[in-house]
Amino acid sequence: MNVKEEQLKISLEQEWELKNGLDEVKFTHYALPELNFNEISTKVKFLGRIFSQPVMIGSMTGGTERTGKINEKLAAAAEEKNIPFSTGSHKIALKKPEVFESFNVKRKNPDVFLIANLGGTALLEFDFEEIERSLERIEADAVFIHLNPLQELMQKDGNKKWKGVREKIAELCDYLSIPVLAKEVGNGINGKTALELQKAGVKAIDLAGFGGTNWGEIEKKRNGETRNVFKNWGVSTLQSLKECRNLKTPIIASGGIRNGLEVAKTIRLGATLASASLPFLKAVVEDRLEKELDEWLKELKIAMMLTRSSNLNELRKAEIQENRSLR
Ligand SMILES: Cc1cc2nc3c(=O)[nH]c(=O)nc-3n(C[C@H](O)[C@H](O)[C@H](O)COP(=O)(O)O)c2cc1C
Repeated sequence: MNVKEEQLKISLEQEWELKNGLDEVKFTHYALPELNFNEISTKVKFLGRIFSQPVMIGSMTGGTERTGKINEKLAAAAEEKNIPFSTGSHKIALKKPEVFESFNVKRKNPDVFLIANLGGTALLEFDFEEIERSLERIEADAVFIHLNPLQELMQKDGNKKWKGVREKIAELCDYLSIPVLAKEVGNGINGKTALELQKAGVKAIDLAGFGGTNWGEIEKKRNGETRNVFKNWGVSTLQSLKECRNLKTPIIASGGIRNGLEVAKTIRLGATLASASLPFLKAVVEDRLEKELDEWLKELKIAMMLTRSSNLNELRKAEIQENRSLR
């Protein structure tokens, strides 16, 4: 089985329960909201475009016929709901041009805001001209560079050479005309790394904190191993948010975000958007993605109403209880 198909299968069977820390965050409830539900606005500006809700469909698939179909469905829902969408790693399309079409979602959904995806270590391998040409062909609006050292180190043939990746990201930011963004894949980004990425020139940082999809576990299963001392390794989504929220660069919160209330919490803690991957993958294979996105929107708006927040700027100032360090 192709690597991507194998990872997809194991992700969907994922059994482990992890904590991203957001349970600690509790909003103050207002019994007198003094707002009308249908007047609540969840609009958000990101990379110059206005989206309907602060939710993104995270990077996952592409490279095979089946994952190409999944990308098509994800893109169609993202276009319909006016939210950003990211395809999975584009490296395979650079290596095998015949799979390119599985990433080419604008063919059917030209208005989707499309964020392509490429690994940090791929920047050491491919020249920028080649990358640019391929991204232009899919009309990407931006590109994520993913940082996944734990995953690579757990993979049998994973990339072990990471020297120079930071410099390459800075060079790519200068080279490409579209915004370059950075992301982890589930082990989080600490404040120091985020500052380095900001200095390199990235236009947004997706924290992909610990507490959601766990690549250490997925790679362990792929390798048929029983040991994984790194099961709990990483910066939780909550901790990443705390360390990165005062950055100038917009923050995307992800890693175990599973509903609209958690989206509201991340916005309160300084994120511009929240992103999720596995829940939307599950929803798309069960043919209920649009319904899932509607549920998230409803939950976000309920949280906004009960905190007297008529828009996201007000939500950013909503009162929260307990954990004093979050205020
Ligand atoms: C099946 C699957 C495939 C993924 N493939 C990629 C990828 O190609 N590139 C990437 O940057 N992240 C990839 N990710 C990681 C997600 O973008 C995200 O950072 C991570 O899953 C944490 O979010 P979640 O807990 O909502 O799933 C993948 C995730 C899943 C579930």
